[in-house]
Amino acid sequence: MTPLDADALQAACTEAGGGWRVEVWPELPSTSDALKARAAREDAVGRIIFAESQTAGRGRRANRWASAPGQDLLFSLALRPPVEMALWPRVTTAAALAVCEAVEETLPLQPQIKWPNDIYLAGKKVAGLLTEVVHGVGGALVILGIGINGNGLELPEGLVALATSLRRECPEPIRSRGLDRTEIAVALLRHLMAARERLEAGFPAVMEAVRRRAWLMGQQVRLLHEGREMWGRVIDLDAEGQLVLMTAGGQRLALSSAEQVRAVEG
Ligand code: BTN
Repeated sequence: MTPLDADALQAACTEAGGGWRVEVWPELPSTSDALKARAAREDAVGRIIFAESQTAGRGRRANRWASAPGQDLLFSLALRPPVEMALWPRVTTAAALAVCEAVEETLPLQPQIKWPNDIYLAGKKVAGLLTEVVHGVGGALVILGIGINGNGLELPEGLVALATSLRRECPEPIRSRGLDRTEIAVALLRHLMAARERLEAGFPAVMEAVRRRAWLMGQQVRLLHEGREMWGRVIDLDAEGQLVLMTAGGQRLALSSAEQVRAVEG
């Protein structure tokens, strides 16, 4: 495996002038936990921590995030969104779009966003985002953790039906050759920097681009919301990125979160 090129990642941030500082670690328990610990000691805004491997990677709702050492993209970024806190959930939406745009720019793939924060290829999960608000030195900030299944060809047996990697979905000769993870990460950092500017006036354009890539759009879903099971058809994503659902009983619901969402036949 070719290791991530820390200099190239830092150069992308420096060129864009955002003041972001990149670190690449061979192994960490979790990049998000490392950044949280950092935020408790210093003003961590603008720090980005990559790891080639995680021993205790975390997903949403205390799930474990498994990764292939040296194959995936695993990083966390500390930022203070330039909008009022009520609008911070926009960060997840804008970052999910940034992941799609970076993949589209660097590979012949068309990822989709499975609301609220999974990235899908060919109906399987290829990346996940974990957005957490923490109170650190200098006030509240967002720790945005992104995990992308990158260069791996093998997946744990239990995951093959549900997950994939960028490389697995690439056509030949890229599939045999493997991916340049640094190139994808550089594109992603650029798109994430641009995303900051789109959190205010640019957010309607973000939502338009997200709707075009919305995997659940038009699908019948079963979801768990605040412990209650619900069924309905996804009819839209509204201006704030909420999932708009028409229930079997004809009720229109807009949800800002759900514990679980599954597309079902129907
Ligand atoms: C999810 O789909 O549940 C979110 C997964 C987020 C995983 C990333 S990998 C980098 C960062 N560090 C972590 O421990 N988690 C996030």
